[in-house]
Amino acid sequence: MKIVSSEFLTSAVNPGGYPPGHFPEVAFVGRSNVGKSSLINKLVNRRGLARTSKTPGRTQLINFFTINDSFLMVDLPGYGFARVPEEVRSKWGKMIEGYLKNRESLKGVALLLDCRHTPTAQDKQMYQWLIHYQVPTVIVATKIDKLSNNQWSKQQGVIKKSLSLTPGQQIIPFSAETGRGKDELLLLLDSWVNE
Ligand code: GTP
Ligand code: MG
Repeated sequence: MKIVSSEFLTSAVNPGGYPPGHFPEVAFVGRSNVGKSSLINKLVNRRGLARTSKTPGRTQLINFFTINDSFLMVDLPGYGFARVPEEVRSKWGKMIEGYLKNRESLKGVALLLDCRHTPTAQDKQMYQWLIHYQVPTVIVATKIDKLSNNQWSKQQGVIKKSLSLTPGQQIIPFSAETGRGKDELLLLLDSWVNE
């Protein structure tokens, strides 16, 4: 799939703020700072479309982007960021869950994991939850430029084991720096939104 146009559509905190579900959409979830916004920018070839930051917790709303005038990409706030008050964290959790559970136009989710880290309890919960609700899911291992091939093959084993991945669960190593994994991921997203 070739991305020819991308634009910010709207931000929302609750279903009342979501755009109409006319278009199919794909969403990106994962811990704060895992690289969700950077990945979206890389996919669409625009540095500043989704706001990125070294400070975790940058994305605090659900952001919708229109791609090729035919589908939406959805940047969700990151979970698991310790340095925000519990009250705000639980609000984010509800925001993410409310979206994933009720959005009929959602065709699939990319669950992002930092390739260097062992998945957290929340990563595991999110994965189980996506399976439970039968949302088509791909695991994306971000910041793959930080590991050698050797390190990655070891670390892939850790991730598979820790998440108890279902047989055939796809993992795509990805780098927003080098573009590794971009074509593979776009191909999959294309199959979801054009099914
Ligand atoms: P929140 O909005 O806080 O949930 O974070 P996020 O998941 O959107 O992360 P973001 O894209 O803002 O990236 C966080 C940091 O990781 C930034 O400093 C990025 O430059 C860096 N980063 C993201 N992707 C990559 C990557 O593929 N390689 C490297 N080396 N750094 C990356
Ligand atoms: Mg972000």
